[in-house]
Amino acid sequence: MVVSLTFEKAASSAPGKVILFGEHFVVYDKPAIVSAINLRARVEAWRYGRSGVWIEYRMLVDHPSTKAVEYILEKTGFMSGIRLKILSKIPASVGLGSSASVSVASAASASLISLGRIDRELVEKAALEGEKIVHINPSGIDTTIAICGGTGIYRRSRGFNPIDIPLKKILIIDTGKTRRTGEMVNRVREFSEKNKDRFREILSREEELINDVLDAFKSLDLEKLGKLMLVNQSLLREVGVSSLEIEEAIKLALDAGAYGAKLTGAGGGGCIICLADEDKIEKISKSISNKFKVYLTELSAEGLREEKI
Ligand code: MEV
Repeated sequence: MVVSLTFEKAASSAPGKVILFGEHFVVYDKPAIVSAINLRARVEAWRYGRSGVWIEYRMLVDHPSTKAVEYILEKTGFMSGIRLKILSKIPASVGLGSSASVSVASAASASLISLGRIDRELVEKAALEGEKIVHINPSGIDTTIAICGGTGIYRRSRGFNPIDIPLKKILIIDTGKTRRTGEMVNRVREFSEKNKDRFREILSREEELINDVLDAFKSLDLEKLGKLMLVNQSLLREVGVSSLEIEEAIKLALDAGAYGAKLTGAGGGGCIICLADEDKIEKISKSISNKFKVYLTELSAEGLREEKI
């Protein structure tokens, strides 16, 4: 007789992310460089007597975790319900991949309960189902980095390719303005439909830029990387996903001595990342922190992992 070891309760966690270069254009199958950060979402799960997916005793039909866990239950033929508790340190709706990490950790905990192990391939598919609620047409970059961790180049048609980068930390500035990723993705789609030729040029400029970034990583050229961030930002501005807050935060960072800065994630508000020498980071943080929230985060954090419960 085969007895499968499933769990009554389980927990897992997944990191948030910053897209260093290439957001939005990645939806159109251009490469992007993405890194996991040391802010994590933890999801605890219990086998539950009532059927369906429960988040803290409530059924939230349009929640990414609900969709992700429903997918796991359906594919594994699990008969009981699942109750989840979400504990996330990642600020939501500001470009740091909170919904993807929560979806990934929810799916992973459900996988532990229904299969007794984390089936990463299944978790990836499940989390992408969860992401569709938020992103409409997700490229998969956020869920992939939440699972794999580290830093890498992501391309929709080719998946994730890990790379080593010389940056260990990055300064994140949160403009405090939340927005919906799906709306931002739609905004770029509208731009692309109205400006077909220009959009093609922008996509090929972005692809060249990623190659220049990889060269600058190799030669540890922070000044060049900073300039490339500003070029990336100008392309994002042109397709309509910057905002007054983003531009203001970038200006403050540059005035305080950053090499470069750009929005990260979907834009329209949310966070910017800024690149500076370590000895300037404190000065930049100080000059910005009376206006915006600042986080100094570590890059290349660990991906999805099972946690003790
Ligand atoms: C959001 O973190 C990144 C976007 O490129 C959307 C996506 O790739 O799914 C804006």
